[in-house]
Amino acid sequence: MPKNEVVETSEAQIAVHWQEEKYYYPSSKFIAQANLTNEDVYKRFSLDNFPECFKEYADLIDWYEYWHTTLDTSDAPCWKWFVGGKINASYNCIDRHLKNNKNKTAIHFVPELENEKIEHITYQELYVKVNEFAALLQSFAGLKTGDRVTIHMPMVPELPIAMLACARLGLIHSVVFGGFSGKACADRIVDSGSKVLITMDAYYRNGVLLDHKEKANIAVDQVEKEGQGIDKVLIWQRYPDKYSSRTSIIEGRDFIVNNILKDYRGKKIDPVKISAEAPLFLMYTSGTTGKPKGCQHSTGGYLAYVAGTSKYIQDIHPEDVYWCMADIGWITGHSYIVYGPLSLCASIVLYEGIPTYPDAGRPWRIAEELDVNIFHTAPTAIRGLRKIGPEEPLKYNYHFKHMTTVGEPIEPEVWKWYYEVVGKSEAVIADTWWQTETGGFLCATVPALNPMKPGSTGPGVPGIHPIIYDDHGKEIVAGEGRAGNICIKNPWPGSFQTIWGDRDRYVGTYYARYCKNQNSKDWRDWPYLTGDAAMEAEDGYFRILGRIDDVINVSGHRLGTKEIESAALIVPEVAEAAVVPVADDLKGTVPDLYIALKPGNPPSEEISSRISEAITESIGKIAKPRKVWIVSDMPKTRSGKIMRRVLAALSNKKEVGDTTTLANPDVVDEIQKMTSI
Ligand code: PRX
Repeated sequence: MPKNEVVETSEAQIAVHWQEEKYYYPSSKFIAQANLTNEDVYKRFSLDNFPECFKEYADLIDWYEYWHTTLDTSDAPCWKWFVGGKINASYNCIDRHLKNNKNKTAIHFVPELENEKIEHITYQELYVKVNEFAALLQSFAGLKTGDRVTIHMPMVPELPIAMLACARLGLIHSVVFGGFSGKACADRIVDSGSKVLITMDAYYRNGVLLDHKEKANIAVDQVEKEGQGIDKVLIWQRYPDKYSSRTSIIEGRDFIVNNILKDYRGKKIDPVKISAEAPLFLMYTSGTTGKPKGCQHSTGGYLAYVAGTSKYIQDIHPEDVYWCMADIGWITGHSYIVYGPLSLCASIVLYEGIPTYPDAGRPWRIAEELDVNIFHTAPTAIRGLRKIGPEEPLKYNYHFKHMTTVGEPIEPEVWKWYYEVVGKSEAVIADTWWQTETGGFLCATVPALNPMKPGSTGPGVPGIHPIIYDDHGKEIVAGEGRAGNICIKNPWPGSFQTIWGDRDRYVGTYYARYCKNQNSKDWRDWPYLTGDAAMEAEDGYFRILGRIDDVINVSGHRLGTKEIESAALIVPEVAEAAVVPVADDLKGTVPDLYIALKPGNPPSEEISSRISEAITESIGKIAKPRKVWIVSDMPKTRSGKIMRRVLAALSNKKEVGDTTTLANPDVVDEIQKMTSI
C-alpha cells in the first residue's frame, strides 16, 4: 500500500486477533482456607463507598494515633491518605508481632551456594538487628527523620534490616537494585540528596563472589563530580568480620558496619511516630530514556494498601511460607517481600542468587526444603525455568496453594506450564498488573472469588476502578473489542505521592492527559494514566497489551507486540520471543522477530518457517515477521526484562546506545554480527 494510503491507527484492529482463553477455577481446598471469600467485597469497595472503603485496609495495621480524614484532595492530584494518623512501618512489620510470635521465623535466608546453611531469622532476632542498626544510623551516621538514605545492596537479610531500620527512624530509604552500576547508583544518590550510602562488600551471583563495594567507589566519585558529597559509606560484609572486596577502605568515609555495630549491642530505639503521609521511601523507575523518576511513597497509605492486598490477593496467612523471587531492589520486593508479608507476620524466603543456579531444579528444592506454599515470580523467570528445566518441578515434593505472576503480560502457553507443571494444577494463579508508581496491585483476580483466565490479569482489585479511554478521551466499554489507554478512575492509598522534587513531571506524565479540569480538587476529574494499552473483555477482565509505546503499527494495523510473541510461543521449541518494529517504506513499520529456542533445538530454517506460519495462522499475514532471528539469548535488563529497545536498534541498524544496564551485554555483539549481514 503506498504510504499516503496508510490508514489511521484504529484500536479496533488489535482486538480481533486475541483468542479468549477458557477459565480455570480455584479448588475447593483453596477456597476453604482463603482470606477473602465473600463476593460482597466488590460492593463494599464500590465507588459509592469510596474513599471510606479503605478503612478496612487501614485497620489491618496499628496506629499510634488514628487518622481523622480518609482522603484529602486539597492538593490534587497529590493525594493524602489517612490524614492525622501517626504510625511507624518498622513497628508494624516487627514489634507488634513479638507478643505472640517472637520465635517465629521472619526471614529464611537462602545463600546462593547450596553448601552454605540456610539462615532462619526469628522476629525477635530481626527486632534486635533492626534496633541495633537504627541506633547506628542515628548516633554514628547522625541521621534524622526525613533524611534520605541510599541503599545499594544485594539480596541478603541486611537489606530489609537496613530498610526497616530507616523506617524506624522515619528516614526515607532509596533502595537501588544491587545489579545496577555505580553510575546508576550515583544518579539516584544525587537526585535524592542522600548523604549516606549503605552497601555491601560482595555477594554471590551465578556461583561467583562479585565485588560490590567497587561500585560504591564509582558512585561516590561520580556524586562528588556532580558537586554533591557523601558523608559516609556503610559497608556490610557478606562474611561477617572478613572483608571480601578488592577495594581499600577509605579512611573517614568508609565504615565496616559489623565493627561499629559492636558499640550498639542490645541498643533499643523507640519507633518514631510519623505522620501517615510522611514518605517511607523513594523508588526510582528504570525508564529507558530521561532522568530516572523517584516515585515517592507514603507511610500510612502505602503500608495499609500492601497489607490489604497481601492478605486478600496473595492470600497470605501468618502461618504461610511465602517466597517472592523478585529482587527487593524493585517495587515488587518492597511491597510484596518486605512491607506486605512482614506486616502480616508471614515467614518470607529471601534467596540471594539466580533461580537457575546451579541448575533449574534449585527453586523447587528450596520450595521443598522450606515447605513454601505461596510463590511469586515474573513471566521472564517462568520462561527461563521452562526453557531449561521443563520437567524439574515434577521431581520435587512441594505444594503451592498460590502463585503470582507480575511484571509483564504472560503468554497463555507459558501460563499453562506455570499452572500445570510448577503449580501441579493445585495452585491458583494471580496475574497481578501494577507499576512502581502504584505501590500495589491494580488488577488481579481475587483468588477464591474469580476464576483465572490465562493471559488476562483480571478485573480491578477491590477499590481500584479501571477505565479505558481511546485517544480522543472517549470511554471504551467492556466487550467492545477495542483496545485503548488504561487509566484508573480513582486514587487509592498505595499510590505514589509525587515524583521526588518534580511535581510538574508527576502531573504532566500521569494526570494531564485525561484531566477534566486542572483546577479541580475533585478526584473524579483526575484519572490516572498508566501508560499501558489494554482491552477489557465482556467479563470485565483486562488484558494488558504492554506499554503504549510497545505497539507496532503495520500498514495502519495496530499490533500488540505481545500478541505476536504469544503466537510464536505456540511452536513448542520456542522458549522466548521478542518483536520489534522495523521501519519500512511501504508499511510504516514491520515486525522483526527474535527467538530463543529451548535447549537441544538447533536453529533451522524449518523452525523459522513454522514460527512464521504460526503467527500468520493466529493473527494474519499482516503480522508475519519480516525476519525471524534465532538467537542464543535475548538482551535483558538485570531484572530480566527483554530490552526491546536494543533489538529494535539492531534491526534498524541504528546505534544501540547504552548497554551498561544489561545483564548479558555480550549477546548484543552476537546479534549485531547476525543482523548486519
Ligand atoms: O506494562 C506494565 C507491565 O510492567 C509495567 C510496570 O513496570 P514496573 O514499574 O517495573 O513494575 C513492575 C512490577 C509491578 C506496567 O506498566 N506489567 C506489570 N505487571 C504486568 C504488566 N503487564 C502485564 N501483566 C502484568 N501482570
